[in-house]
Amino acid sequence: TLEGYAHYMLKEIYEQPHSITNALRGRLDKDNATAKFGGLNLTTQQLRSVERIVLTGCGTSWHSALVGEYLFEELARIPVEVEYASELRYRNPPTDRDTVIFGITQSGETADTLAALREMKRKGHHTLAICNVIGSSIAQEADGGIYLHAGPEIGVASTKAFTSQLTVLSMLALYFGRLRHLSYEAGQRIIAQLEMLPEVIQKTLECHEHVKHIAARYADATNFLYLGRKYNFPTALEGALKLKEISYIHAEGYPAAEMKHGPIALVDEHTPSVFIVPNGTVYDKVLSNLQEVKARGGPVIAIVDHEDPQVANLADEVIMIPQIEDFLQPIVASIPLQLLSYEIALLRGCDVDMPRNLAKSVTVE
Ligand code: M6R
Repeated sequence: TLEGYAHYMLKEIYEQPHSITNALRGRLDKDNATAKFGGLNLTTQQLRSVERIVLTGCGTSWHSALVGEYLFEELARIPVEVEYASELRYRNPPTDRDTVIFGITQSGETADTLAALREMKRKGHHTLAICNVIGSSIAQEADGGIYLHAGPEIGVASTKAFTSQLTVLSMLALYFGRLRHLSYEAGQRIIAQLEMLPEVIQKTLECHEHVKHIAARYADATNFLYLGRKYNFPTALEGALKLKEISYIHAEGYPAAEMKHGPIALVDEHTPSVFIVPNGTVYDKVLSNLQEVKARGGPVIAIVDHEDPQVANLADEVIMIPQIEDFLQPIVASIPLQLLSYEIALLRGCDVDMPRNLAKSVTVE
C-alpha cells in the first residue's frame, strides 16, 4: 500500500535509507575488512582466478553496471566490460575462460537480460544475478547471485532498486579487491563509508522541499542536460532517464567533458543543465565544464556536497548533499535527481507511477 504517500515512486524514494540497510545487512565482515555473500556458488580459489567481469542489464540496471565498472576497476583492479543485454545477446564477443557474467536486474524478468545470461551460460561462463525479485526467472536460471532485498518496487521508474544495486556492487568490488591487492585498512575505510550510507541518505532526503521549488522553475523546459564525470557520469545518465520516462521531457546525460564535442550546441537560456559537482578528483574539471555552459547562457542546477562559493556564484540553483567518498556519490546524488523528476512530472500532470508506453518489466524483446 501507499502508506500515506501520494505515489509509489515517492514512497520508494523515501524507503531508501531502509532498503540500503537491507542490502548491507549481514554482508559486511568487519573482522576481515571485506564483504561476504552466501550465494555466489564459487569457491574462493575460483573467485580469485576471475580475470574479467562482464556486467549486463537494461535501462537503470545498465547504469548501475557502468558504476560497477568503475568500482571493480578501482577497488579490485579487474577489467570490466559493460554491455547492454539486448546487444550482448546477439553479439559474439570473444571471452576468456575466466570471465564471470553479472546480470543486473530489479525484476529478474527482463527478456533481454535473461537471454544474454543464457547465451553466456551456454558458452560455459559462470553467470550471476544481482536481482531484487526472489524466485524470478533470472534468479532461478543464474548459477548464483545476490538479492537486493529492497522490497517490492512498484513505480515504473526504478529508484530504490538502483541505489541497492549500487550498494551491492560496492560490496562486491570490496570483496574482489580484498581477494587481491586491497589492504586491510582500505577495506576498513570502505566499510565505514558503506555503514554511513543509510543515515546519509536520510539526511539527503531533507533536500526535498528545496528541490520542489527548483522543479517549479524548470517544469516548462523542453530539454535538459545532465552532466557529471567519473562515478557521476552514470549518475547523469540515470538522472536524465528518470526525467524522460516520467515527465516526457527530453533529457540527455553525458560525461561533462563530452559537452564540447557536440551537445553544447543545445545550450541556450531555455535548456537547463544539471551538474553533479561534488568534491573529488574531477571537481575542478567539472567546474570548468560548468563555466563553459554558463558562458553560453544556459541555466545551471548544481549538486554540491559542501558550501561552495565558486559553484554558488555561477549556478542558478544549488542543491546540497552530504559528503561521502566518490565511489558512493552516485547513491547519494541520485536522491535529488529522483525527487526533481518526480516533482517536475507532478507539475506536468503526468502519471508518475505508470508512465505512458512503459511497463515495469520488459518481458518481450
Ligand atoms: O527489471 P530490470 O532491472 O531488468 O529492468 C530494466 C529496465 O527495464 C528498467 O531499469 C527501466 O529502465 C526502468 N523503467 C528505469 O526506471
